[in-house]
Amino acid sequence: MLLKEYLETKKKIVDRALEEYLPKRGGFSSEISESMRYTLFAGGKRIRPVLCMASAETVGGSADTVLPVACAIEMIHTYSLIHDDLPLMDNDDYRRGKPSNHKVFGEGVAVLAGDALLTEAFCLLSGKAPGISPEKSLAIIHEISAAAGFRGMIGGQVADLRAEGKEVNMETVDYIHTHKTEALITVSIRAGAIAAGTDEEDLNALSEYGRKTGLAFQIADDILDIESCREILGKDTGSDEGSKKATYPSLIGLEESREETRRLVEDALSDISRFDEKAEPLRMIARFIAERKS
Ligand code: IPE
Ligand code: IPE
Ligand code: MG
Ligand code: MG
Ligand code: MG
Repeated sequence: MLLKEYLETKKKIVDRALEEYLPKRGGFSSEISESMRYTLFAGGKRIRPVLCMASAETVGGSADTVLPVACAIEMIHTYSLIHDDLPLMDNDDYRRGKPSNHKVFGEGVAVLAGDALLTEAFCLLSGKAPGISPEKSLAIIHEISAAAGFRGMIGGQVADLRAEGKEVNMETVDYIHTHKTEALITVSIRAGAIAAGTDEEDLNALSEYGRKTGLAFQIADDILDIESCREILGKDTGSDEGSKKATYPSLIGLEESREETRRLVEDALSDISRFDEKAEPLRMIARFIAERKS
C-alpha cells in the first residue's frame, strides 16, 4: 500500500472514531462541545494516532484495538494546539486551515476547550477498551500523562516560551523540541505497542524510532514555518521569526536543518530494521516526515 492510501485509510478510521467519542449532540453544554469539535475536526494530519496504530500493527496487533488510545492522543495534541495559539502563547490566528479556536470562541472558551479535550482524553483512556487489559491501560495512562505533562510536552512549551528572544544553544533547542513535540510522538508509538502486546526489545527499538522521528518532525515544522505558506500548511508562517523563537534553522540554518532531519530519519529506519514488512507503514511515515510539505 502506498503512503497516501495508508494515511487516508487510517485517518478516516480515526475521524469516524473521534466522531463517535465526541458526537455533535452528546447532551453536553453545546458551546463547549462545539468549540472542542471545531479544532478537533478542522483537518489535522492525524499523524500521532496513525503512528500509534502503525506501531500496534508492527508488533502483530490490530489497529482497531488501539483506536481509543490513538484518539485520546489526538485529543491531547489538539488541546495543545488550541492553547499554543492563544495570544499569551504563540498568538497565532490560523490553525488547520481555519481561524484559531480563540478567534471564534474567545480566549476563555478556548482555554476551557483545551482543558476539556485533555480531560476527555483520560476519560477515554480509563474507560472500557475491548482487547486492552486494565494493567495495560494503567501503564498506558501512566506513560501518556508523563509525556503530556511537565516532564514532557508542558516542560517543552515552558522552555519554548522562556527562550523567546534569547540567544540559545543547541542543548536548549534540543530540550525544547524533544519535550514539546517528540515526547508525545514517542508515547504514541509506545502506547500502540504496549496496547497490542510487545516485549521489551521491540518496545525499545520502537522508542528509538519515536525519538528520532519525533525530533525530525519538529525540525521539519521549523523549516516549514520559513518555507511554506498558510494555503498549504493551514497555519500562518513566519510566526517563529516574528516571535524570535528558538528553532533549528535559527541556530544552524536551513540547509543544516534539512540535513539533520534526513540523518534522524535514516537512523530511525535502522532502529526498526529488526521488524518485518508489518513495519512498512512506520518506514513510510518516517520518510514522509523528512520530506513533508505540510
Ligand atoms: C503541529 O503538529 C504542532 C507540532 C508539534 C509541530 P501537526 O503538524 O501534527 O499538526 P496537525 O495535527 O496536522 O494540525
Ligand atoms: C508546538 O510547537 C508544540 C506544541 C506542543 C503545540 P509550535 O508552536 O512550533 O507548533 P505550531 O507551528 O504552532 O503548529
Ligand atoms: Mg509554540
Ligand atoms: Mg505555535
Ligand atoms: Mg511551529
